[in-house]
Amino acid sequence: MRISLLFAIILGATNGILCQNASGYEVPVKVETIYHFNSSVSLEKLAIRKSGEAIVCFDNSPNIYQVDPDSINGSVRHIHTFEGYLVAHGIVEVEDDQFYVAVSNLSVWTHTYVLGSPSIFHVNMTGFPEHPARVREVAHFADAAILNGMEVLSKKEGLIYVGDIPLGVINVLNVNTGHHYVAINNSYTTIYPFNNGSGIYGIHVFQPKHESTKYLYFSNQKQALIARVPIHPKSGLPVGEPEVVVSNLTSVAEFALDKEGNIFAALFSLNQFVRVDHKTNEVLVLAGGPDIDTYTEAVSVVFGRTESDKGKLYAVTIGGFTALHNVGAGLFRLDTQDMAVV
Ligand SMILES: *[C@@H]1O[C@H](CO)[C@@H](O)[C@H](O)[C@H]1NC(C)=O
Ligand SMILES: *[C@@H]1O[C@H](CO)[C@@H](O)[C@H](O)[C@H]1NC(C)=O
Ligand SMILES: *[C@@H]1O[C@H](CO)[C@@H](O)[C@H](O)[C@H]1NC(C)=O
Ligand SMILES: *[C@@H]1O[C@H](CO)[C@@H](O)[C@H](O)[C@H]1NC(C)=O
Ligand SMILES: *[C@@H]1O[C@H](CO)[C@@H](O)[C@H](O)[C@H]1NC(C)=O
Ligand SMILES: *[C@@H]1O[C@H](CO)[C@@H](O)[C@H](O)[C@H]1NC(C)=O
Ligand SMILES: *[C@@H]1O[C@H](CO)[C@@H](O)[C@H](O)[C@H]1NC(C)=O
Ligand SMILES: *[C@@H]1O[C@H](CO)[C@@H](O)[C@H](O)[C@H]1NC(C)=O
Repeated sequence: MRISLLFAIILGATNGILCQNASGYEVPVKVETIYHFNSSVSLEKLAIRKSGEAIVCFDNSPNIYQVDPDSINGSVRHIHTFEGYLVAHGIVEVEDDQFYVAVSNLSVWTHTYVLGSPSIFHVNMTGFPEHPARVREVAHFADAAILNGMEVLSKKEGLIYVGDIPLGVINVLNVNTGHHYVAINNSYTTIYPFNNGSGIYGIHVFQPKHESTKYLYFSNQKQALIARVPIHPKSGLPVGEPEVVVSNLTSVAEFALDKEGNIFAALFSLNQFVRVDHKTNEVLVLAGGPDIDTYTEAVSVVFGRTESDKGKLYAVTIGGFTALHNVGAGLFRLDTQDMAVV
């Protein structure tokens, strides 16, 4: 039985009053709180298993946990601790239940990182939780700073994209051989104008309907935009100039794309989840707001995968871990109704 049947649905914002916006959608949307971590946990990324469970990556310790979204108030299980690292930041699935997780040495308190510390590990989740996850290192990135966004380039070849936040580049890694190289480095992946703060965040391969070109879409938090660059489907290298898709997306972090190219994004400092219309670029606030602490430091989103989760958007917040007012990191499920074409 779904959590929504058992517990009150929390309406995202403004004491639950629904309002119709230009696009005619009712916002804020319905949001279920799947799990609230205690104040000693900060979250960063998440992935959804084929079987529906969420895997969350910790931002203040090298841990990944599984959250069952359908048990009462969720149920969490420790999956793995990456000893010798400080944070677990990126996650992507290549084959069924075969995840790859990026770990680095970064202090969430001082924002300082150790150049050359990042590695990527294979996490084999087959049979979890009955069988423990099998974890092994795939590649060490001796020139990287903080690896975060990850995306599959070629499932068949085992190629993935991996973004480096401070260096402002996107690497390609062959998860079978460990071979990797810098593939994308342009004016929209860098941190500008200051060489500080967070740059490249989410990265997603997308091929617009009726187009033969594949693009890599990526968000840059510092530049407050999502841009795209046409890519070579085999090498992952750019085959054209990058262009801005949407700008003025204040503090944009991770995002998801639906089949039409509508963007669902987490806006970190605005504590908001928004939808950007692929035709009009209208930015619709789905839930949250600058003065609403329910979604403090909204950081990642990903679509659900099971039939009952179709079009539902799973989201995590940091909760204000290093702030005076720490509400605790949370995992939420947003009902995007018919706003997402999945
Ligand atoms: C907070 O949650 C984490 C993860 O569930 C757990 O390991 C830790 O013991 C908890 N800490 C406190 C103080 O409850
Ligand atoms: C579920 O969480 C809510 C809110 O934190 C709490 O009031 C309630 O007691 C919890 N229910 C169970 C069964 O743990
Ligand atoms: C990363 O941090 C861990 C824990 O403090 C430490 O054991 C390890 O040596 C560090 N690695 C690097 C490359 O600095
Ligand atoms: C994952 O683990 C299962 C069970 O040990 C094993 O059969 C399978 O070959 C592993 N998959 C990969 C890709 O390593
Ligand atoms: C990215 O490109 C800039 C400008 O060409 C260059 O200075 C920088 O070294 C490149 N970064 C990496 C990590 O290759
Ligand atoms: C980044 O640089 C600007 C300007 O120098 C400064 O105001 C800001 O505090 C810096 N941010 C971080 C996270 O260090
Ligand atoms: C940029 O976005 C902010 C809110 O996120 C809004 O207040 C402002 O009007 C926008 N600016 C432009 C030029 O669209
Ligand atoms: C909906 O539209 C109204 C009027 O245009 C605007 O004031 C409001 O901020 C919008 N609400 C959201 C949640 O985007």
